[in-house]
Amino acid sequence: MPPGGSQVSTGVRCWGLIPAAGVGRRFGAEVPKQYLALAGRPVIDHAIGAFVAHPGIAGCAVVLGAEDGWWADVSAYAGHPRVLRAPGGAERCHSVRNGLEALAQRAADEDWVLVHDAARPCLRRTDLDRLLEALQDEPVGALLAVPIADTVKRADAGQVAETLPRSALWRAYTPQAFRLGLLRRALDHAATKDLIVTDDASAVELLGLRPALVECSADNIKITRPEDLPLAAFYLEQQRETPC
Ligand code: C5P
Repeated sequence: MPPGGSQVSTGVRCWGLIPAAGVGRRFGAEVPKQYLALAGRPVIDHAIGAFVAHPGIAGCAVVLGAEDGWWADVSAYAGHPRVLRAPGGAERCHSVRNGLEALAQRAADEDWVLVHDAARPCLRRTDLDRLLEALQDEPVGALLAVPIADTVKRADAGQVAETLPRSALWRAYTPQAFRLGLLRRALDHAATKDLIVTDDASAVELLGLRPALVECSADNIKITRPEDLPLAAFYLEQQRETPC
C-alpha cells in the first residue's frame, strides 16, 4: 500500500477499516449479507469503494471471518494494493481490534481510522467529507449519526417501562473516526472489563471521553433484514440520479 492520501493535518493520515466478519444471522441468507448482490456489485464493495475512491484516505483494512469463502471470488478489491486483510474476531469489537493491529503496521498512533460497517453500502461522499472536515479540530473523534424521528420506548418484559425524551437521541451510524492509538486503548479497556461494545464510540465513551456527532443522510443504512436490500438499491439509484 503506498503512503499517501491527503491529510487532515500535517503528517497525519486517514485510513478506512471495514469489519466484515459477521455472518448476518438476522438477515438469514446462506450468503453473509455483505456478499449479497446490490446494484451489480457485492454490498461490501460499495462500502470499500467509498474509501478507496477518496483521495483523503491512505488505505483500507478489511476484516474477514475465518470461514469466509466469498471475498476472493466476488470482491473487486481482493488483492487491491491499497486494501489489506485482517482476521475476524468473535464479535464486531474483536474484529475491529484485529483490523487496528493490522493497520498499525503501516499507520501511526496519531493517524485517524474511520471504521465503517461492510453492511453499509450507501455512504455518500458528502457525508464522508463532512466527517473528515469535523476531524480538523476534533480532540476525541467523531461519528456519523442521525437524530431519531420516532418516539422511543424502553421495554421491560414486553411492556413499556419508560418513554425516552427523543430530542436528545441519535442513531449511531458509521464511519466512526478515532485516532488509531486511542481506539486500540479504548477497545483493550472494554475487553478488560469483559464488555462487548456494539460500536467504536461506545468503547471511547467508556474512557470518559465524548466523541462528536456529525449529522449525516438517513440513507446510510445498515443492511440487517431482507427488506433493507431493495431499500439500499433504491437509495443508490436515487444517489446516482442526484449525485451528492
Ligand atoms: O452484526 P452487525 O450488523 O452489527 O455487524 C456490523 C458489522 O460488523 C458488519 O459489517 C459485520 O460484518 C461486522 N462484524 C465483524 N465481526 C463480527 C461481527 C460483525 O466484523 N464478529
